[in-house]
Order: sequence, then structure tokens, then C-alpha cells
Amino acid sequence: MGARIVGTGSHLPEKQLTNADLERLVDTSDEWIVQRTGIRTRHVLEDCEIPSEMSVDAGARAIENAGLSPRDVDLLLIATNFPDMICPGSAPFIAEGLGLAEAPFFDLKAGCSGFVYGLAVADGLIRSELYQRVLLIGAEALSRVTDWTDRQTCVLFGDGAGAAVLEPGGDDEGILGAALYADAKKSLLLHMPSGGTRAPATSESVAGNDHFLKMEGSGVFRNAAPMMEKATHDALDVAGLDLGDVDWIIPHQANVRIIDALIRRLDVPADRVITNLERVANTSTASIPIALDEALRDGTIRRGDVVVMTAFGAGVTYGAVVVRI
Ligand code: UT7
Repeated sequence: MGARIVGTGSHLPEKQLTNADLERLVDTSDEWIVQRTGIRTRHVLEDCEIPSEMSVDAGARAIENAGLSPRDVDLLLIATNFPDMICPGSAPFIAEGLGLAEAPFFDLKAGCSGFVYGLAVADGLIRSELYQRVLLIGAEALSRVTDWTDRQTCVLFGDGAGAAVLEPGGDDEGILGAALYADAKKSLLLHMPSGGTRAPATSESVAGNDHFLKMEGSGVFRNAAPMMEKATHDALDVAGLDLGDVDWIIPHQANVRIIDALIRRLDVPADRVITNLERVANTSTASIPIALDEALRDGTIRRGDVVVMTAFGAGVTYGAVVVRI
């Protein structure tokens, strides 16, 4: 028996940064950002806010939505690339904030594909009967690692968290298929040069902005749609389904042009593809669970629908999961 999603939740910080706000920070324009990315605004943390608190709120909503209490969770997985602290990560702070009993927890780092990877990991652990109820959260505080003087990256990102509770499902429901991939040769397309153990932070690295996210935008762009296309087809093959069986596709929300390219490659109707990046921007691992939670809450996705979630990101990693909700 695979895992089914029994509750979802999400959290977006209250503060918003519009394209007009960014025009005052760097040499850019609303027109350029909308045309090249599809993004109009994004949510960002206030300086005084703690990133893992987004996950605590999203997680609490998912647990409540599932009709459960925090003590019912027997494993916490937090997919994030930029934890509250490199050690011990984000998981302990989230577990404490949620009041989880003694459930084990760990951070899972798989670029923007983290939530998709996390769904496959949770499914495997539930199938193996190691755990019954997994709380999977995708969360990112990208504003804290964004170079706000770099117009090539600062217009793209936002902060947020999304969560899902998974438990054993019945026949033909829940996670029906998954396909995960990676290409290590492309590891530096997206990276943070300093602050890890290879190049610990020094006054020089901080002065050189090396503790911010660096990205080779066009390299990422070229790979994104083909990777998500392959992963989608392969996950559907594993599920024994084809695109005609799919009700909704939730792609990683990075750039509307990448999503349009994916729609053309898959040859699916655009109105079957869920997007929210216009008002949320790229929230990395949080993008898919936020979009999933919003679409479930507004009734777009209904019980019984077949949903493909597909992502790509730093690593590079990519993958897709097919779920009957
Ligand atoms: O989750 C995964 C993370 N990352 C991504 O998914 C990003 C994937 N990549 C992209 O979305 C796109 O490559 C970008 C949106 C980052 C850039 O779009 P692009 O169409 O590839 O633009 P470009 O990098 O080729 O730049 C075109 C021009 C350049 O000027 P010149 O050299 O032609 O004079 C840039 O300097 O646009 C300029 N530019 C900007 N202009 C105004 C770059 N950023 C900006 C900006 N505002 N914010």
C-alpha cells in the first residue's frame, strides 16, 4: 500500500515585495520581470521573523486539515536547501514548534525538487511499514540568501512553506508512481559558494557576497523543461497511466516561460496546469506544496483527481510523482 495525502497546509509571509518595489532596489522594470518570468509580486520574511516558523504554521494547518494532532505524526521530513542553521538544520525547530512527541526528523536537501523527492521518500517509508504518518514540509527562506544587488536573481525568488501529511492508502489511490533523477555534472548551475565546510564564511567571503545564491540562469532555463518532461513521462509509466489520465499538473514554479515550454513539450491543455508564481514567485521546495494546498482549498483539485507534480532544481535534481488525491 502506497502513501496518500490526507491533509495539506501552507504559509506565506505577510510582507510582499512587488516588482515596483524591486525597481527601487536594482536596475529592472515591472515589464522585464513580467515578460521574462511571469512574476508580479512575492512574499518575503521580515528581518525579525524566523524561517522555520513558516513550516510550523504550514505543518500545523496540514495536521489539522487531516483531522489529526501533532502527536499522531511519527516522522517529520523537511525539504529545504537553506535551513535555519547548517547544524542542526531546520527539523528540530519545526518539531519543537509543532509539539511533535518523539518523532524522528531530518532535513532533506534536493534543490527545488525537494518536495517531489520527499514524496517518494515518504511513500517508500510508508510502504515499508517503518512509519505510518509522515509530515512532509517544503520550505524556503530564499530572501535570506538572495543578493539584493543582483538583478538576475533577486527578481525571481520568494519565501514560503507548504506541507502534506501522508499515511497508508488503499488500492489505486495516493502515490501511484515516481521517477527521480539527477545530473551531478551540472552541480554549479545553482550554488552558494561560501558558508559551507568547503569555504567557510570569512570576512572576505561576506564582503564578496559569496554567501548568497549564485545562478547561471540560462543554463538552468535550458534544462528545466526537458527534465520535467522526461520525469513526467517516466513517473506516468511507473503508474501505468498516460497523460490522458492526468487531471492536473503542478510544475515547479520557477518561470512562466519554463512552464509554457513544458506545456508545449507534453502537449497538454494549459488550463490543466496549475500556476501561482505570478503572486508567489519561485519559492524553491515550497512551490509545489503551496500550489497543491491552494488548489485543494479552492476546490480546483478534488478527491479522486490524478495529479502530476514535477520539479527541477539545484544539484541538479529533477523528478515527478503521480498521485491520486
Ligand atoms: O528553481 C530553479 C531556479 N532558477 C530558475 O529556474 C531560473 C531559470 N532561468 C530563468 O528563469 C531565466 O534565465 C532568467 C529569468 C533568470 C533570465 O531570463 P533570460 O531570458 O534568460 O535573460 P538573460 O539572462 O539572457 O538576460 C537578457 C538581458 C541581459 O541583458 P543584455 O546582456 O542582453 O544587455 C541581462 O543583463 O536581460 C538583462 N537582465 C535584466 N534586465 C532587467 C537580467 N536580469 C534583469 C532584470 N531586469 N531583472
